[in-house]
This record gives sequence, structure tokens and C-alpha cells, in this order.
Amino acid sequence: MTLEFHLNGRRHAVRDVPPNVTALDYIREHLRLTGAKEGCAEGDCGACTVVLAAGPEGGRTFRAVNACLLTLPHLNGADVLTVEGLADGDGLDPVQAAMADGDGTQCGYCTPGFVMALYALRRGPEEIGGEIDPETVHDALAGNLCRCTGYRPIVDAAVKACGEKASEEAGPGGGSAHAPARATDRYEAGGQAFLSPTGLDEMAEALADNPDAYILAGGTDLGLLAAKERQKLPVVIHTGRVAELLEIRDEPDHLEFGAAVTYTDALPLIGRDYPSFATLIKRIGSRQIRNMGTIGGNIGNASPIGDTPPCLIALDAVLSLHSRDGPRRMPIEDFFLDYRKTDLRPGEFIRSVRIPKPKAGEAFRTYKISKRYDQDISSVIGAYRIAVADGAVRDARIAYGGMAATPKRARACEAAITGSAWREDALMEAARAVDEDFEPLSDHRASAAYRSMVARNLFARLWRDISGADEPLDVALIR
Ligand SMILES: Cc1cc2nc3c(=O)[nH]c(=O)nc-3n(C[C@H](O)[C@H](O)[C@H](O)COP(=O)(O)OP(=O)(O)OC[C@H]3O[C@@H](n4cnc5c(N)ncnc54)[C@H](O)[C@@H]3O)c2cc1C
Ligand code: FES
Ligand code: FES
Repeated sequence: MTLEFHLNGRRHAVRDVPPNVTALDYIREHLRLTGAKEGCAEGDCGACTVVLAAGPEGGRTFRAVNACLLTLPHLNGADVLTVEGLADGDGLDPVQAAMADGDGTQCGYCTPGFVMALYALRRGPEEIGGEIDPETVHDALAGNLCRCTGYRPIVDAAVKACGEKASEEAGPGGGSAHAPARATDRYEAGGQAFLSPTGLDEMAEALADNPDAYILAGGTDLGLLAAKERQKLPVVIHTGRVAELLEIRDEPDHLEFGAAVTYTDALPLIGRDYPSFATLIKRIGSRQIRNMGTIGGNIGNASPIGDTPPCLIALDAVLSLHSRDGPRRMPIEDFFLDYRKTDLRPGEFIRSVRIPKPKAGEAFRTYKISKRYDQDISSVIGAYRIAVADGAVRDARIAYGGMAATPKRARACEAAITGSAWREDALMEAARAVDEDFEPLSDHRASAAYRSMVARNLFARLWRDISGADEPLDVALIR
């Protein structure tokens, strides 16, 4: 039983390596390519960044990912680029040359990761051929940490190298497309099995036959079991090749995202219809994490501080679940039962999430409160869908994360706000009802008192944001 992939343009066939070995360990320890480094083994530092190339010649995508979180079979059929594949003899890739010429490296530990993140930026369809603005560079490098150089020379190198259009030929390993490696439906080694179904029914059968299997999507949560805890994963069912789970639908009245759609692929449509939601998604982890992580994984993980569930609840999103017994639908708000406990039945998985499109007269906003802007988990997430007419709130759907054991609707708050005048003072008065909805916990991220205060005071931000007010606050924030 073999697993095939291309690395720097060369085909590799793997046998007898357990599927819980990370892609990073395989690349470093088995292939002896030690450019990609292990810094944190949890997706935070970017030292392990490699690039996945996909698609036909002329339309290739190049995406930076954290090899520490990918398991080896995530590379099933993939086209992987590491820093060793960029230079052509003595001819450095423009990113490497810019980093070297601009003193963007000192000890060099982080450098291959930065180079690969910038290589993906330079080859990325959304960026090439234009001015690289500081926001784009920031976004591309938010997942890479350097302890010695300081970021200015690295950012300068990014602007220098990525401001020009990369040609399809550039880079020996990654430039042109070659016949894709053959992906396998099943890989087994060391008493562990990795199943990679390609259709919905096949996935349902696999799960029915292996009810205790781990469902694996991008692996940005689950991958930690392999990367950090070195756990054996007896049976894993990967969603990444299931055609139905990769579908994106743009219908007249809703968007629908298959559970295995990555954040990166979901962003264009979400950004078009719900810019505030897209701003939040761009703060999930880093570009590497968003290239791997999925909305389905964020829902399936059922964390009380997952960023998308409060938004999906406020937007009245509907989940499609699937099993061998057939489909089942439910409002997403009913899915989260208790701390990390969901309504998924044995043998069932998330197929897709359907998000209604914005209606006239409604506004949607979401705010993430965390200690850092980038690469940080939320202390509180507030999501608000408000309809205002004739100077009053006609309808309100409000949900929070970080305030309870599950992402949850703020029903008392919704009732208090509905019908109130659309004025800052009236809204802040109604916001006091947040205290009836939640009794948050204190933990290392935030105290209960802080969480409650923030959840109430986000209404000031909401009002000012929607009404466009920029004069000083004329209401007292609620302490
Ligand atoms: C460095 C870093 C930063 C992060 N930052 C954030 C952040 O800012 N905000 C945030 O919300 N999260 C964050 N995360 C967590 C993670 O990226 C998200 O939860 C992501 O959406 C998980 O998606 P995935 O595809 O990687 O899921 P996986 O890790 O593959 O799976 C996650 C869980 O969902 C289940 N699952 C996956 N697909 C299905 C399905 N189709 N049906 C049923 N169950 C399924 C899995 O069994 C598993 O329990 C971060 C993670 C890392 C490592
Ligand atoms: S080793 Fe730090 S992100 Fe992978
Ligand atoms: S150059 Fe030393 S960590 Fe970045």
C-alpha cells in the first residue's frame, strides 16, 4: 500500500511509514530535507512552512501550509514545494535573493519558513502583477515569527520580491505542472489506517464501518494530536477528497459551503456578502492555517471560542449532516449541546453549511476580542444581525462565543433590543440584558467580569459602526 506525492518536482512513493507521522517529520527525517524547521509544532511560528501547488498549468495555486500540522497522508497525491526546491543551481529564487540582499536573515532558523510564505505570496493569483500593499504583506507573514532579525528587512524583501509578476516557469520544483501523483483511497502502516474517500456515500460507509474513526479535515485542530502529542490515530477518515464536501454554491438566496472547503476558498464569497465576517476569518490563525483549516472543522471542533459558530448562529445558518441513513438538516444553533458536545450521531458527519444571503434593511457585524490582533484565540466573539426601520430595531439575532460552554444565542438581549430606539443610549441600556444570558468563566484568556463587560460594550461599537458615528461616545460604557 503506497502513498504518492511530488516533492520539488520529484515523485515519492511511501510505504510502511505510520500515518500519524507528520509531513514535517517525514520531510526532515525520512527525506533528509532539513530546510523546513520545527519551532513550535502547533502552527504558530511558521518555521515549518512548505507550499502546496495545485491546478493546471496557467492556473496553478500556491498555498503556504504548516507542515508540522499536516499528517503524512495529507500529502496524498499532492505537489509539495520546500525551500530546497526553489533555487536553480546558484540562481536563487527572487524571494531568496531579496532576503539575502536585504539582510532579512540572521540565525536563519525562521528563514526557510519566511521564504516559503513569500514564495506563495509571489506566486499567488490574488497578488501577482500588482503593487504589494503593506496589508497584504502583513497578512502573508502574520504566521511567521522571527526572533532575531526584526521584521523591517523581511517586509522590505517581500515588497521587493513579490511586487513583480512571477512567471509560470519560475522555480525548478514548483514552476510548471506535471502529471499529478496518484492519490490513494486507503493507506495503512504501523497498525493505523488512513481512509480517503472521494464521494459522500463512500464517506458514509467508511464512517459506518468505523464509528470510532477520527474525521480529519485540514488538521489544524486534530493535527495537534500527531504533532504535539504523538498519538496513534487507529483509523482516520479524511474529508479532503470528498467531492460533495468541497462544493461551494452561490445560490440566489444563500451561500453553501461544503464542510471541507478551506477558509481561503470560502473567503471571496463571504467577503462579498458579509465583509465583517470575512474580516473575522482573516484573523483566524494565519494564512497557513486558513489555507488548511475548514469551516466544517471549526463547527465539528465545537470549541466555545471557535470564531465562526457565533457568526453562523447569528446568520441563521443551517447545517446539512449526512450518514449511511441519509441526510439530516438542522439550524446550527441546535447543533452545540454542551462543552464540545454536538448533536452529531454515530456514523454522521457534517456535509455543508448553508448561510442565508443578506436581506434588505439588515446589517451584520462581528467582533473578535483577543489579546493580539493576529494569531490569537478569541476571549469573546460577538456576532450581530440587526434590522432597523423607522428609527427602531425591528429584529435582532445576537450570538456570542467565549461566554458559555458553547457558542450561544443571547436571547434575553435580543428581546431587550428588539423594539428599542436605534439610539446609542437605548442600545446600551438594552445591552445590560447580556448579563441575563451568560455567566462566563474566568480563565487564562480573560476574567468573567472582563468578558461580561466586553460583551455589553461591544454594542457601543456596533451602534457606531452601523450608524457611521465618529464623534466621541456620549454614553457611559457599562462596567
Ligand atoms: C495556530 C492556530 C491558530 C488558530 N486560530 C484560530 C482562530 O483564530 N480561531 C478559530 O476559531 N480557530 C483557530 N484555530 C483552530 C482551527 O484552525 C479551526 O478550528 C479550524 O477551523 C479547524 O478546521 P480543520 O479543517 O483544520 O479541522 P480538523 O483539525 O481537521 O478537525 C477539527 C474537528 O472537527 C471535526 N470535523 C472536521 N470535519 C468534520 C466533518 N465534516 N464532520 C464532522 N466533524 C468534522 C474533526 O473530527 C475534529 O474534531 C487555530 C488553530 C491553530 C493551530
Ligand atoms: S513548527 Fe511552528 S508552525 Fe509548524
Ligand atoms: S533569523 Fe533567527 S529566528 Fe529569524
